[in-house]
Amino acid sequence: MKSEQIIRAPDALPPDAVSLTEQFVVPTYGRFPLTFTRGEGIRLFDNQERSFLDFGGGIAVSCLGHAHPELTETIHRQAGLLTHVSNLYYTEPQALLAQNIVTRIGPGKCFFSNSGAEANEALFKLARKFGNADGRFEILTTVNSFHGRTLAGISATGQDKVKLGFGPLLDGFRHVEYNDLEAMREALSPTTIAVLVEGIQGESGIHCATVDYLIGLRKLCDENNLLMLIDGVQCGHFRTGCFQSFQRILENSKQGGSFLPDGISMAKSLGGGFPIGGVWIREPYADILGPGSHGTTFGGTPLACSVALKIMEIIERDQLADHARSLGIWLCEQFQKRVDQFPGFLTEVRGLGLMLGLVLNDSLETHSNSGTTPALMVVQKLHEEGVLTIPAGRNVVRFLPALNVSKEECQDMLNKLDKVIKGFKP
Ligand SMILES: Cc1ncc(COP(=O)(O)O)c(C=O)c1O
Repeated sequence: MKSEQIIRAPDALPPDAVSLTEQFVVPTYGRFPLTFTRGEGIRLFDNQERSFLDFGGGIAVSCLGHAHPELTETIHRQAGLLTHVSNLYYTEPQALLAQNIVTRIGPGKCFFSNSGAEANEALFKLARKFGNADGRFEILTTVNSFHGRTLAGISATGQDKVKLGFGPLLDGFRHVEYNDLEAMREALSPTTIAVLVEGIQGESGIHCATVDYLIGLRKLCDENNLLMLIDGVQCGHFRTGCFQSFQRILENSKQGGSFLPDGISMAKSLGGGFPIGGVWIREPYADILGPGSHGTTFGGTPLACSVALKIMEIIERDQLADHARSLGIWLCEQFQKRVDQFPGFLTEVRGLGLMLGLVLNDSLETHSNSGTTPALMVVQKLHEEGVLTIPAGRNVVRFLPALNVSKEECQDMLNKLDKVIKGFKP
């Protein structure tokens, strides 16, 4: 690095994040030309003090919005007390967070990490260790799934685009069509040890698992002594109206009452923007990863766990799960009205709670500039109106707002969406 590149005269203009990023940050991300400086609730403000309604929520992370005063206070207080001690010792926040999660899911134990990819790594290692004695190691995942960017994560992910150029990938992962129980049954091999599915596929455009699929997978795993694993990184943490998406999907099903997977990965909203990931492992398997078998320096620090505990407390106190559920139903109806009214623009709305996807008409392809997908085109048009959303695949726009977003803020977003739809000439 040339040192003169970063030395500025005292009266130089403030640094431009875009050009500095392009110069100094490895270009792994396609970024929009927006630089944010602060946030408040559902709103983000850029470096020109333009205000945006954040319906992307940092990709399903900022579950209490931005700069929530109680989270800010918790971070200050805990940082003043204890930030990190390593996992050579015990801390109360980690123990309490594990207890909290176990209480919400079922008998078992937790392991904490720093991200969703790492949470899935723990599930992969759990499965490998479980199958080690009888030579089984294969994990079946689904087509169009997303499980993170580590080497095992991209090996597990059912999308070619994340794997390109990174071969040889890890052995022992195969992908099977989502929501197709028979395909999963047929794919089983003598080396299969686990099945991993998202409760709702997020990155590929919001596809919910069906009741029969989840119940059927549980049975299939029981019959074949396989672990049933759920990736709840994006769809978990009350977003659907229940702590985990499978709880919401199965709530009215007769067999759903006793349903439990064997492992669940979590991250994103668990820390509301403060990095933390984790897994819950069902009781009979919870001690498979014994001392020395797995670990991470930063996993479950008192600071991260205090933030996660505070988030749990606020979500419960403010009844945000019920809020996400009822607002999600209303928002879905509002989207459906637009699907019915503007079929040339929108074809479908999918999802549960505050994890919704609007499917764009394929014909928008011809209106997007070369190299721009319909999803990107609409996301950019929404930026011009001051709304942030997340593209998924070629033609889905995702809405993953904070769980405490108000109906008025949703209406504000819908008015801006209407301007984009009406500004479009079929
Ligand atoms: C379902 C799912 N699993 C895993 C991950 C990876 O999480 P992280 O980016 O925190 O590693 C993501 C991220 O988008 C995800 O959506």
